[in-house]
Amino acid sequence: MSTPADPTSASPYGTLPPTSTPALRKPISLPRLIEMRARGEKITMLTAYDATFAAVADAAGVECILVGDSLGMVCQGLASTVGVSLQDMCYHVQSVERGLRRSQATAWLIGDMPFGTYHESREQALRSAAALMQAGAHMVKLEGGGWTADTVQFLVERGIPVCAHLGLTPQTVHALGGYRVQGKSVAAAATLTRQAIALQDAGATLLVLEMVPAALAAEVTLALQHCATIGIGAGKDTAGQVLVMHDMLGVNLGKMPRFVRNFMSGAAGVREAMQAYVAAVKDGSFPDNAQHAW
Ligand code: KIV
Repeated sequence: MSTPADPTSASPYGTLPPTSTPALRKPISLPRLIEMRARGEKITMLTAYDATFAAVADAAGVECILVGDSLGMVCQGLASTVGVSLQDMCYHVQSVERGLRRSQATAWLIGDMPFGTYHESREQALRSAAALMQAGAHMVKLEGGGWTADTVQFLVERGIPVCAHLGLTPQTVHALGGYRVQGKSVAAAATLTRQAIALQDAGATLLVLEMVPAALAAEVTLALQHCATIGIGAGKDTAGQVLVMHDMLGVNLGKMPRFVRNFMSGAAGVREAMQAYVAAVKDGSFPDNAQHAW
C-alpha cells in the first residue's frame, strides 16, 4: 500500500518549508523593532510579493518584508506605482502572509497603501489600512509629509502601526518630474527634517527615506528618537535598509538604480543572496556611501 503523499514535497513545482518548522528566531514585533533601533542594530527590509520569495526571505533572516506597491512595476509591468489598486495590494499581502506561515513566520509584514487610497480623508485611510491588516499586514506604509501626519496619528490611535515614507515618493513621480534625488537644497532638507519629526510625533515607528543625500538621512536619523529610518539610496547611516527584491537579485526591467548591489553575484542561490544582504546590512558593508554621492 502506498503512503499518502507529503503535501510539502508532492508538487513538481518545488516546495515551501513545512508548516511544522520550529521557529528558529523570535518573531519580529513592534517592540523588537524599537529595541533594535535603540540598540543600534541595523534593521533589514526587503520587498516580496508572493508566498515563495517571502518564505525564502524569512528563512534568510530578513526582519521586515514590505509588500510594496513597486509590485506595479516588477510584477504587473506598469510604468509607475500609480496604477496599483487596493485589491492588488490585498491579494499580494495575502500571498506573502501565507508564505510566511509556511516558513518560520518571524518576519514583520508591511503593506503599502496604494495611490488614492488614503488621500481623501482619514476615514478613507482607515478603511484602506483595515483592508490591508485583514489581509495579513502587521503595519501599513504611506507616502508623504505634511498632511499625512494627521492621517498617521488617526491610524496609530486606532491600533494600526505605521511606516512613513519621505524623500523620493514614487506615487508622486509625476509631480516630482521623475525619479529624482530629493532634499538637496538647504530649504528642501529643512522641510524633510521637519516632516520626519512631525511623522514621528504622529506615531510613525518606521520611516523610509528614499533617494536623499546620505548626510541628510544621517541627520534625520539622529533627530528621531522613537522612529527608525530605513534607507534606500540614502547612505549607510540610517537605522536600517530596504531594497526591492528584484533589484538585489539582479533582475530589473529598466535601468538598475545606482544604489543597488546585486547580491546574486557570488551566491549559490536566492536564499544565499538574501543572507548576504542581511549580513552586509548588519555589518555596515552595504550600502557604501560612495554609491550615494548624490
Ligand atoms: O514600493 C516599494 O517597494 C517601496 C520601497 C522602494 C521602499 O516603497
